[in-house]
Amino acid sequence: MSMKTSVIVFCLGLFTSLCMANDKVKSNAEDAGIQNGKKLFEANCLACHAGAMPEAPKIEALNLYSPERIYHALNSGIMSTSALMLSNQDIRQVAYYLTGKQVEDNKKQREQFLCKAGPQAAKPGTQARWTGWGGAQGNQRFQAQETILNPDNVNGLKLKWAFGFPETTRVRSQPTVTASFVYIGSQEGTVYALDADTGCIHWTFDAGTEVRGAIKLHAHPTDGRSILVFGDTKANAYSLDASTGQMLWKTKVHEHILATVTGSVNADQDKVYVPVSSSEVVPAGRSEYECCTFRGSLVALNLIDGSIAWQTYTTPEPIATGKNSAGANNFGPSGAPIWSSPMLDSKRNLIIATTGQNYSSPATGTSDAVIAMDTDTGKVRWVTQVWENDAWNGGCSRKTANCPKEDGPDFDIGTGVILIDTAHDKQLLLVGQKSGLVFALDPDQNGKILWQKRVGSGGTMGGVHWGMSSDGDRLYVGVSDLPTRNPYTKGEPKPGLNALDPATGELLWHLPMPNDCPAETKFRCYPGISAAVSSSPGLVFAGGMDGMLRAVDANNGEVLWEQNTYQPYTTVNGVDGKGGSIEADGPVIANGQVYITSGYDKWAEMPGNVLLVFALPEE
Ligand code: HEC
Repeated sequence: MSMKTSVIVFCLGLFTSLCMANDKVKSNAEDAGIQNGKKLFEANCLACHAGAMPEAPKIEALNLYSPERIYHALNSGIMSTSALMLSNQDIRQVAYYLTGKQVEDNKKQREQFLCKAGPQAAKPGTQARWTGWGGAQGNQRFQAQETILNPDNVNGLKLKWAFGFPETTRVRSQPTVTASFVYIGSQEGTVYALDADTGCIHWTFDAGTEVRGAIKLHAHPTDGRSILVFGDTKANAYSLDASTGQMLWKTKVHEHILATVTGSVNADQDKVYVPVSSSEVVPAGRSEYECCTFRGSLVALNLIDGSIAWQTYTTPEPIATGKNSAGANNFGPSGAPIWSSPMLDSKRNLIIATTGQNYSSPATGTSDAVIAMDTDTGKVRWVTQVWENDAWNGGCSRKTANCPKEDGPDFDIGTGVILIDTAHDKQLLLVGQKSGLVFALDPDQNGKILWQKRVGSGGTMGGVHWGMSSDGDRLYVGVSDLPTRNPYTKGEPKPGLNALDPATGELLWHLPMPNDCPAETKFRCYPGISAAVSSSPGLVFAGGMDGMLRAVDANNGEVLWEQNTYQPYTTVNGVDGKGGSIEADGPVIANGQVYITSGYDKWAEMPGNVLLVFALPEE
C-alpha cells in the first residue's frame, strides 16, 4: 500500500468504525490524542473545511498534508487566528488526527545537545547579569557593569555561537543572562536554560504555548535560591527553579479567552507583576464578532505561591452598547492592554505600566496612558494620558462593522517607562509612543508632562515601538516609521536612532538608517528600528527590521560595528538556523557578550529562528 492510501484509509476510519484495528496498535495516550484532535477539529475547523467555504482546503486534502505543515499553519501561519484558543499540545493533536502522523518530536532531537557537565563557575570579572526585560532597576536597558566591550574594541565582535529554535518563525523572548546561564522562551512554548559559554542545553521546560516576554531572574523570597518568573500567550504566569527548571507554581492571570502575556513580568521582594494584553483586535475585524470584551490588566502575584495579591484593570467592565451595522452585539469600554514591562519605582512604592488603545467605544482616559499603581494595593495613584480618543480595532483597517466611531490612530505605548536620576538630583520618567513622540514625566508631580519631542512620523508599527534605553546622560530612541498608511502620521518617515537630552528633550544626534534591503525579497524588509534598543558604557546597540545589528558610539552616533543577521546560520543544536527581522525585544549585553534574537513573521516581516551571541575572539 502506498503511503498516501494508508493515510486516507486511516483517516476515513476515524469517521467510521473501519479503523478499529488500526487504533488497537496505538497506545492509549496516542488514541486519546487523536480523539481530542478530532473533537478540537470539529469544534474549531470543520465549519469552514467541510466544504462550506470553497477556498478552504477540504478535509480530504488536509489528510494529505504533512503534520508539520498543519502545525505551522496553525501556530504561526495562515490559520493562526483560528487556532488562538488551542495550546501547542492541542495543535499537535489536531495535526495527528488529520494526518495520522505525529509532528516530529523535537524533544528527542534536543537530547543530543544537552550539556555534558553543569555550568562552569563564573570567571573573575564576569559577574554582570541582565535579569529581565529592562536590565537592572528602572527599565533603563543599560548594562552599567560592562567592562570588556568599549568603543575602541567593539568592532572586533565575532559570532561565538548561534542557537536554532525548532518549529519556529519568530523569536521575541529577550534572553536573560548571567555569567553561566541564558534563559529564553520560544514560539513553540519551550523555555530553555542554555550555557552562556557554549549554548548547550542545561534544561528545558514546556509551557505549551508561546513565551514572548523576557524571563525574570529573581531570588526566592524565603530561601534565596534563584527562581524564574514569566508569562505565556494563554495568560498564565509561571515560576520555575532556575537551576533545574522544575515548576514551582502556575497561575491563570486573566479570565478573557483571548488574553495574552506579551510584555515581560517584573518582580520585587515579594510580588511578581504580570502585564496582560490580548489579541482581540484580530477577530474584531470580522463583522459578526461581538466586539469587544477584553480589558487590560496588571496582576500582582505573591512570589512565594503564585496566589493573586491584587488585580487592577485599565478600564471599567465592558457593558452592552448596542449592535453594529451587521447586527452583532457591541460592548465597551474595552482594550487598553499592557504590552510592555511594568517599571518598579521602589522609592515611591509604585509599579508603573503603559497602555495601548481602546478596542471599542467609548474611548477612556486610560488608553495610550502611563498608569502608576500602589505596589501594596494596586490602587491607581495617577494616570497620564498622552493621546486621547484612541479607540481602534482590526475592523478599522478593513472598514468592517466593528470599527469604533473614534477610528483612532492605534498609537499604543509599546515601551516600558524608564526611570532615571538626572544631574540635578531630580528623577524623570521617560516614555515613547507609536505616534513618534517621546515624553518626560515628573514622578514627583503625579506624572505631569515636562516635555515632549517628535522623533518620527509615527505609525501602526511605531514611531517608537518596543523600547528605549538610557545611561542617565542620554536617552537613546530607535524609530521604526514603517510606512503603514496610518492617516495620523506626521511628516516624512525617519527610520533611525536618536540621542536626546533627558532633561530637555533636545536632539543630541540622529543616525538615519540606510536602506540596504535587497531589491527583491519575499518578505518585507525595512531599515527602521522597531525592537527595543540597549546600551553599555560608551555604546548603543540597535537591531533593525532589515536584520542589521549595529553598535553605535554613544557620544556621536557613529556606527562602530555592524552585522547582517538576515542569513543562514549553523547552530550549536543542529537545527537549521535562519536570521530575519530583529523585532520586539532587543539586544542584551553582559560580560563582553552581545545577545540578539533574529526572525519575526508578523506584518510580512522576515521570519527566522535564531539566538546569536557575539563576543571578542579569545587571544
Ligand atoms: C473561518 C474559516 C476557517 C476556519 C474556522 C479554519 N480555516 Fe483553515 N483555512 C481556511 C481557508 C479559507 C484556507 C485557505 C487559505 C489560503 O490558502 O489563503 C485555510 C487553510 C488551511 C490550511 C492550509 C494552510 C497551508 O499551509 O496552505 C490548513 C492546514 C488549515 N486551514 C487548517 C485549519 C484548522 C486545523 C482549523 C481549526 C483549528 C482551521 N483551519 C480553521 C478557512 C478556515
